[in-house]
Amino acid sequence: FHGLKMLYEGKAKKIFEKSKDEVVIYFKDDVTAFNGEKKDSISGKGKINKKISVFFFKILEEKGVPTQFIKDLDETSFVARKLDIIPLEVIVRNYTAGSFCKRYGVKKGIKLKEPIVEFSLKDDELGDPMICKNVILSLELVDGDILEKIEHYARKINEILTRLLSQSNIILVDFKLEFGVKDGNIYLADEISPDTCRFWDKNTMESLDKDVYREETGDLVERYSEFLRRIGL
Ligand code: C5P
Repeated sequence: FHGLKMLYEGKAKKIFEKSKDEVVIYFKDDVTAFNGEKKDSISGKGKINKKISVFFFKILEEKGVPTQFIKDLDETSFVARKLDIIPLEVIVRNYTAGSFCKRYGVKKGIKLKEPIVEFSLKDDELGDPMICKNVILSLELVDGDILEKIEHYARKINEILTRLLSQSNIILVDFKLEFGVKDGNIYLADEISPDTCRFWDKNTMESLDKDVYREETGDLVERYSEFLRRIGL
């Protein structure tokens, strides 16, 4: 990246330092599942996820959710605010799927009576354990007012995206968010893409997300491209 210093390399992204206040987020073609046990490089994935993340971040910003996004850069990267990332994964669920089914022994695809917001501690070595609000506050991982804002924004994002996607006949099943802080303010961070969400076709219940890679039930780029087409990108 033209000599920019790499601040961080994750499983699917690299973060470069652009200036004191800005970073470049680069989307890799790498894809992993099951905490990195399964991994591949799938040509074209980074480009698609960048496009979808920018699309969602712009809409959320317009609707009053502060996001890390500043401006688009190129096919695989965008410029973003430099934040201190909060070490939590915020998961919102509307339908049962994935680890929720395993944990509670329930069938996949049941619509929940109301959306659930849950938290995991971001820690690969520990396997991102689920963590409850009491523990977050007791360990002083974040302040109470920040935690309340995180939950408020997570629910608001869920309402905005659920409504938006239903216009394309897509069910937003569940998704993962990350947040960061800068100068005491909170911002939505990272990405929102088929890597971090479950999207189902409303009629066929077919996955348009990373489950096709996890479960080896379809071609990732073909499914993600179908998602792009459906949302009009
Ligand atoms: O695995 P689980 O069912 O808990 O995942 C819930 C949602 O969060 C899924 O959409 C999944 O893609 C996303 N997720 C993620 N990164 C993780 C864990 C879950 O993007 N480390």
